[in-house]
Amino acid sequence: MSFDECIHRLNNNGVCILPSETVYGLACSALSAEAVQKVFKLKGRPSSNPLIVHVLDHSDASKICLTNPLSEKLSQFFWPGPLTLVLPKKNCVPPEVTAGLDTVGVRSPSHPKFRKILSSVGFPLAAPSANKSNKISPTSYDDVKGEFGLDSPPIIDGGTCELGIESTVLDLTTNPPQILRLGMCTKDQIEDVIGIKIRGVNKITRSHLASKKSPGLMSKHYCPDTPLILYRTIDKLIESLPSIKDEVIILPKKSHNLSVDNAHTFYLSEFGDPIEIAHNLYHILHLSDRLNKKRIHASLLDNKNEIFSAINDRLSRASANCL
Ligand code: TXA
Ligand code: MG
Repeated sequence: MSFDECIHRLNNNGVCILPSETVYGLACSALSAEAVQKVFKLKGRPSSNPLIVHVLDHSDASKICLTNPLSEKLSQFFWPGPLTLVLPKKNCVPPEVTAGLDTVGVRSPSHPKFRKILSSVGFPLAAPSANKSNKISPTSYDDVKGEFGLDSPPIIDGGTCELGIESTVLDLTTNPPQILRLGMCTKDQIEDVIGIKIRGVNKITRSHLASKKSPGLMSKHYCPDTPLILYRTIDKLIESLPSIKDEVIILPKKSHNLSVDNAHTFYLSEFGDPIEIAHNLYHILHLSDRLNKKRIHASLLDNKNEIFSAINDRLSRASANCL
């Protein structure tokens, strides 16, 4: 689809699929309840799960929410980029966007095509990941084009998403601020920028109470259609290899040097680099799923690195039997 067509659709309360640096997004005007309802319907998303609103910069963010010195500092450092800030919303944001919450999640994407469209339309764009509810987020044109079948909104082809997993979501309405969803912006980086300790994702964040606060944290999410068996460690997965026949195995790095002739094997990276693994994760889950085998086998990553935790979070939610 051309930029002009896309802008025309967005101006008329329509929906388009746009590339971002994290994952593709299903975008519409964030100021139109009618447009937002179309997005919920296409995704099959429960109306209780709020959307992220995309803006060009902090000054545009302040038109839709109550910004503060912390959001200012964080945006100077991380925007445009994969950090969503949860702040008290202003009245111009319809309740449909925020699932009735009095806060809104806002971020400034860095993908040049997304930014070009934001500056052309001149209003904020709500955009959840461009997948059916609870399915794997798309990170390439090939993965997104089949997601909505005949109902698919037109797509702006932005190639492969650079980062590959969704933004870090940081709640700035609590004291101290709290990470609600792990992503490529880490707790350490955020603390360095604002100079205060924040709360990480913990059991409480995942509790019933918190899932009401940020309903997208529901544990079943990002699921391939093929059951994904998740092993606690790579060694546990390796122990099971002899019993796996004609199924799919996803290994963290090529240097595992295993002989797995009896299965379809994908490697998330060459040498185990977290940024490379995040970049490849959803695309490899899509490829694995398309093989239509009985099961997919993968393991958690055994490193304390926070990006590995973000990846483990996605893998756990994608898995059929939780460990
Ligand atoms: O990287 C991303 O964040 C991508 C790209 C397209 O920007 N978007 C994305 O959107 O992942 P989505 O809808 O799949 O995830 C949004 C999640 C919600 O499920 C919820 O957990 C959290 O962000 N969220 C949004 N608004 C919130 C709010 N007001 N309060 C708490 N959590 C919120
Ligand atoms: Mg999503």
